[in-house]
Amino acid sequence: MNPYSFEDPVTDQKMFYGYHNEVKKIVERVTEQWSFFVLGGPRMGKTSLLQQVEHGLEALGKKNTSRNARQLVIPLYLDMRDIPATDKDFFGKVAKKLEQFLDEHIFAHAIPSEVKISLDSVENAAEPFDSFAAVLLEITEVMKPKELRLVLLVDDLWRKLGSETEIIFPRILRALLTPSEINYAVASVFTGSFYDLGVIGSSASPLENVLFDQSLHVLNKAQTLLLINEPTQNKIPAEVTQEIYQETGGHPFLIQYIMSHLYDREDWAYVTTEDVGQVIVKFEEEREDFKDWFKKLSEIDRKVYKVFCQVELGMETQICIDDLLHMMKFDIPNVNWPVIRDALNALATTGLIRETNEDCYELAGQWPARWFRRMW
Ligand SMILES: Nc1ncnc2c1ncn2[C@@H]1O[C@H](COP(=O)(O)OP(=O)(O)OP(=O)(O)O)[C@@H](O)[C@H]1O
Ligand SMILES: [Mg+2]
Repeated sequence: MNPYSFEDPVTDQKMFYGYHNEVKKIVERVTEQWSFFVLGGPRMGKTSLLQQVEHGLEALGKKNTSRNARQLVIPLYLDMRDIPATDKDFFGKVAKKLEQFLDEHIFAHAIPSEVKISLDSVENAAEPFDSFAAVLLEITEVMKPKELRLVLLVDDLWRKLGSETEIIFPRILRALLTPSEINYAVASVFTGSFYDLGVIGSSASPLENVLFDQSLHVLNKAQTLLLINEPTQNKIPAEVTQEIYQETGGHPFLIQYIMSHLYDREDWAYVTTEDVGQVIVKFEEEREDFKDWFKKLSEIDRKVYKVFCQVELGMETQICIDDLLHMMKFDIPNVNWPVIRDALNALATTGLIRETNEDCYELAGQWPARWFRRMW
């Protein structure tokens, strides 16, 4: 069976590449009440990463249920596409998921039926968060001496952007992140794009101090080679893997797209760079991803990306913030360091450029760059 997939998030741990350090860090720290915002553009691997965090926490939970365990770790994955955009629905769903988790695990017998009834009533409560917090306190009592650690993995809180969500999601964030009597027991990991983070900054600025950013990035060369070579038993010729790296720039979704097509050919040792070219043509015929990425960039991001796309191949390709400030001062009025840094972050988390040194970046994939050049 073809192990590559460009449509679904990675669920097979063996097919998850490149973001292991990020997963490890999040798994270690959420149990100490750190909350995270995982920043990534479309198709950069946000859902895949969240699912690995869930596996990591489940494994920890299993370890922790052994004799001397201090903590009871409960990860709950919440796909915001399944949740209508009100805070009632949100906490109602969290309560349902928690109930299901408690039911499915060995400690279900320890949960009194009143707690289950309270969990059921969250969705219809006048103040869903308060009602949820109250049940959590009950559960904490029941679980003692173990410490409850509920980790909410909230995928795409911003998926349903609209005027209603604009009001609701800061409320959810505040409820979860500002000090309250349940804070010691709950940590959250949110995913979204660079611009979603900006919305938090403006609508709920006190949260900046309690929400740690974890930026996604394109895979480096070694990680890209592993993703290409391990599932194909090192049979793909080196010039072809090099071509895939240069074309995709290490963008996990673009690598998966190419590899899912090449994998179906059984003669991996005879695959050529022309075959890669054919897959790229097919992508452009059938998919609109680049258009979607482009739409999400701001005017300034596009101007900065243009500078990267114009750098000649084979020359020194790294560009630093100071160079950009100098180059762009005629093009962008009032350009300054934070403006450029924001554009670079937006481009790097979209997987179009990669950080090379502190404050310095280079073009990632040639393939999206060609597409963007055609658009100008
Ligand atoms: N760590 C990874 N290792 C290997 N492949 C990955 C990894 N992360 C993402 N991918 C590939 O990229 C594709 C998109 O991943 P995923 O759905 O997790 O991204 P996303 O950021 O959640 O996307 P969306 O913006 O559509 O919600 C997947 O189909 C998978 O093939
Ligand atoms: Mg996703």
